This record gives sequence, C-alpha cells and structure tokens, in this order.
Amino acid sequence: MGGAAASRGRRPVAPEQITAQVLARFDSTPDPRLREVVRALVSHLHAFVAEVGLSEEEWAKGIEILTATGRITDERRQEFILWSDTLGVSMLVDALAHPAPGGATESTVLGPFYVPGSPLREHGADIAEQEAGTPAWVHGRVLDLEGEPIAGAELDVWQNGDNELYAVQDPDAPDDHLRGRFLTDAEGRFAFRAVRPVPYPIPDDGPVGRMLNATGRHPWRPAHVHVVVRAPGFRSVTTHIFDAASAYLDDDTVFAVKPSLLREFVPRAADDPERPAGVEEPWVSLELDLVLAPGEGGGEVVDRGRTH
Ligand code: BEZ
Ligand code: FE
Repeated sequence: MGGAAASRGRRPVAPEQITAQVLARFDSTPDPRLREVVRALVSHLHAFVAEVGLSEEEWAKGIEILTATGRITDERRQEFILWSDTLGVSMLVDALAHPAPGGATESTVLGPFYVPGSPLREHGADIAEQEAGTPAWVHGRVLDLEGEPIAGAELDVWQNGDNELYAVQDPDAPDDHLRGRFLTDAEGRFAFRAVRPVPYPIPDDGPVGRMLNATGRHPWRPAHVHVVVRAPGFRSVTTHIFDAASAYLDDDTVFAVKPSLLREFVPRAADDPERPAGVEEPWVSLELDLVLAPGEGGGEVVDRGRTH
C-alpha cells in the first residue's frame, strides 16, 4: 500500500502521545530510582513545554543558553551550580537533605568559594592575612541539643573582605586570607578575629547574569560568614552567619537566608576594654552558639567546583 493510502483514516499524533511514548521508553530502566527520576523529569519537562506553548525560537534560545553554560564552565567557573543557586534548586535540595533539625543550627548553601584545606589556627587568631575591613571578634560555643558543650569540634570558616572578594577570587590576596579552621576547647568555646563581611554580587558576567538582568533581578548576596562545623558523633552543618544589619537579607539572589542564621555584629569603640589584641580602631563583636544534632556524616564537604 502506498504512503497516502496507508495514512488515510489515521489520526495525527497528539502532543500527549509524544509524552506517553517517551515515558514508556524508560519503563524498563533497571535501576528503580533512576526510572523514577528520569520519568518524572520527562513528565515535568514536557508539561512545562506544553504549559507555556514553547515556540521553536524559544527552544533554540534555551539550547543556546545551555550551550553557553557549558562553554563558560571549567575548573575555575561552575556556571551550572550558579543556575542551581539562582533558581533556588540548591536551597531546595539542601532543605530536603537536612530537614528542620529540631534546635540544631540550620544549614544553607556551600557556595563556590569554599576551598578545602584551610590552615588550622590558634584560638583567637586573625583570619585576615592583610588589611580587609572593620575588625570583628567572633566568639561563642559549639553545643549539643541539650546545651552541653562539644569539645574538639572543628569550625571551618571563610568570608569576604571589604573589597567584596573571597581570597580565591582575589589575585592580590594570599591563599589563606580570610579563612581558617578552629577547634573548640574543653568548654566548647571558640574565638577568632575576622572582619565584618560585606554584601557582594555573585559572578554575573555569564548566562546566569544575563538571566538575572533579563528578569529584573540583581546578583547581590547579603553580608555573611561561612562556616562548616564538624565533630565526631554529630551531624556536620554547612551554614552561614548573616549580618542582621545587612542589605539584601530579603532578596538574597541565591535564596539562602534563614531567619535563625541572622546575628547582630555589635559596634564597639576603639577604646573598648574588651578589644582584641592589636585592634586600635572601631570594631564589631559577634557572639554565636552553634548547635549540632547527634549523628554521623557530612563532615567532608563535597567540593563541586569554583566560580571565580
Ligand atoms: C557564596 O555565599 O559564597 C555563594 C553562594 C552561592 C552562589 C555564589 C556565592
Ligand atoms: Fe559567600
């Protein structure tokens, strides 16, 4: 039978049939979890295309954006994670992995400026290896859920200076500038000198920046200090401490602010008798307790790449 005769009387393929065919093709995926994930991905992707009535030009633009994201990504630039961060997927995955911890310090995104292997520093040491802004004395305790001190807990901290940059972004900064690891004493106490962090824009010279611009969003994050806290027998937490007086707390471009993570950086006078050694100008103090839930794991941060 010829083509015309063969097709006579047959209905055209409906969009829903395409979705059904693709889903059926994954039915025999051997790994059940992979089957679940890939089928849900197809369902939602097709539903999205159908819902917005995606045009051929728009899909071509989408492919261009994905291509540009791949092209700009290398060992110094991870644009895919920036997409994940700015679309709120990083925070959603984090929320699912670390459900409300019942009194323990809440987690938030790792971000692309973490570099493993920070130097272990003495109690009270300065993490600023060169001038970087208003001195900050950061001190507090690491506690368990009952409020008992955890001795020998490790804090792994990193932050930016008043030039808005993390050391890893700043060619003029020593590698270990504004980062360090500290151990708690027998009473669970830690203390270190830092600087008051400042708000900063995420790298916005690539496809993610173009998305922010085209959608009327800004690239700014509120001022914060990053910390990973680890202790044997406890679940590690990767989090930030936000300056409660910072701009952008309500519209952090990566959606990482949680109210429980806001703290006051208290302004202190140059002649305040509690000033840390070597401080001769106005400074700030930050007191914070970090609380760990019992458990294991998460101690080693998975370093998924940089974005300078
Ligand atoms: C950060 O806090 O370092 C960060 C987090 C997500 C994207 C960019 C930067
Ligand atoms: Fe940061």
